[in-house]
Amino acid sequence: MAKIFSGVQPTSIPTLGNYLGAMRNFVTLQDGNECIYCIVDEHAITVPQDPEEIQQNIHRLAALYLAIGIDPKRSILFIQSEVPCHAQLGWIMQCTSYMGELERMTQFKDKSSGKKAIPAGLLTYPPLMAADILLYNTELVPVGADQKQHLELTRDLAERFNNKYGQVFTIPEPYIPPVGARIMSLAEPTKKMSKSDKNRKATIFTLDSEKDIIKKIKGATTDDEASVRYDRENKPGISNLLDIFSLCSGRSVEELEAAYQGKGYGEFKTDVAEAVVGALKPIQERYQNLIESDELDQVLDEGAERAYAIAGKTLKKAEKALGIGRSNR
Ligand code: AQP
Repeated sequence: MAKIFSGVQPTSIPTLGNYLGAMRNFVTLQDGNECIYCIVDEHAITVPQDPEEIQQNIHRLAALYLAIGIDPKRSILFIQSEVPCHAQLGWIMQCTSYMGELERMTQFKDKSSGKKAIPAGLLTYPPLMAADILLYNTELVPVGADQKQHLELTRDLAERFNNKYGQVFTIPEPYIPPVGARIMSLAEPTKKMSKSDKNRKATIFTLDSEKDIIKKIKGATTDDEASVRYDRENKPGISNLLDIFSLCSGRSVEELEAAYQGKGYGEFKTDVAEAVVGALKPIQERYQNLIESDELDQVLDEGAERAYAIAGKTLKKAEKALGIGRSNR
């Protein structure tokens, strides 16, 4: 049995990339493990958010977590800002970090590039993520490939702290799936699919209608070779669609390559779209029932309480090791 922690930002509706790369694994990992899943709203505000929109996205993300199969009887589901230990340990992790290592983070470089005024929170996002993970004595963190660098930093910070102040934190391992860890943009298949991509044709959102999914996949950028074959370097568009098709249908990439030999991209794309619609439809149906129900608030209240019971202890241990606050409290 492993202790698992992961989170998703309520920056928009989760994408097919978020689902296939991370959230799908959150569900399977519930079997035999202690899982804690979070709506990381404090991470979301590292870039400006509209208050009404983020409220809605938090609510939608909670419903979606349950709709994909997170079972609140087995797993803890909560909102990051409702457990203040995250911001508190986040500060301690900031004080454990060096500017140079934070400035080297790829996500910081990407998200700050071209900005005149860079929010400091973009730079200090990784120490907050480290705090999220370390508060729960996490052993395994299911994430997409884009978060690997942040996880390595989390490990470095935990080791640095432990070496200086004594054994407080468990050193976590990443859990990155062999297929689907990096679902690419449909419009520019050399860059990852992202919630915040301005080009709406680039991204499939998990709550997209059947019509939109078909339209986006039919319009996906491919190549002129007219051969359905997996080659990430030379055929990024088709390879991305093969990954998506494989994950949504349960058929291997090799099986799909053989099945579409000599067939055109039109037929292939139609079938990819059908597989995606088929995978998302049951989730969307469950979501519609959950979004209006009172169950969500109950689950989130209970989740915050259960999360605090664990996180509060770790925070106290870290503060005591540092010598801050009164050690007899
Ligand atoms: N394209 C992707 N393929 C596979 N996994 C992905 N993840 C994100 N994009 C892909 C994984 O989804 C989980 C939740 O992501 P997040 O909400 O914490 O933020 P992110 O990684 O920054 O994802 P986005 O979609 O790109 O959001 P924005 O645009 O708001 O920054 C993570 O485990 C992530 O690895």
